[in-house]
Amino acid sequence: MNRSGAIAMGLRRVPVWMVYCLGMVPAFWGLWLGLTGGLGAEPVRALEQHLGETALQFLIAVLAITPLRRAGVNLVRFRRALGVLSFVYVCLHLGVWLLDLRSWPLIWADLVKRPYITVGMAAGLLLVPLALTSNDRAVRRLGPARWRRLHRLTYPAVSLGGVHYLMLVKGWPAAPILYMAVIITLLSFRIRLLRVRFPA
Ligand code: HEM
Repeated sequence: MNRSGAIAMGLRRVPVWMVYCLGMVPAFWGLWLGLTGGLGAEPVRALEQHLGETALQFLIAVLAITPLRRAGVNLVRFRRALGVLSFVYVCLHLGVWLLDLRSWPLIWADLVKRPYITVGMAAGLLLVPLALTSNDRAVRRLGPARWRRLHRLTYPAVSLGGVHYLMLVKGWPAAPILYMAVIITLLSFRIRLLRVRFPA
């Protein structure tokens, strides 16, 4: 058996629940660092950033599934788990922000006065219908074609997530630019694929 065959065989043996368990490790790691004073001078902000960045990484992983399949690495079985994990991290990220402010007027002011928060919220809201329909019953009820159309919301959601990150940093740090470059590359691959499947 060649190397890619061995990898494919190995991946087939990985149970999906293991992806959920491993996917929660960054959350517990963040919590552990928070409880042991390992998050620096602004622990709440650091936790918020850690959870936001992890959410974005999972969303990007979802987007990478199709190009990887084309390259011979089939991770389609794990797509739903990765999507659900990204939603869980967005909820935790949002939860830390809400707990940090703990006042509706402050939350409202942040939401309307800070464009990066508005953009983040828009990305988060787009993920809600995706999370609610990430189950077999929803696929059956909507039918595969409508379900697939609905799940194209992943593309604006991940783009807004990347823009949200770019907007909140000052100057031109490498990380958000790199995330955005990866998002644009993966999206252009998806758009090319959609054009091939549904030519104008
Ligand atoms: C649901 C509404 C959201 C709110 C209210 C929100 C709010 C915030 C806040 C307050 C920060 C920290 C800013 C600082 O450094 O002081 C942040 C950072 C961040 N958020 Fe969000 N966000 C939301 C949604 C999202 C979504 C949907 C994603 C990605 C899919 C995301 C990804 C990030 C990233 C990557 C960072 C920066 C992490 C870093 O600095 O390493 N956020 N967000």
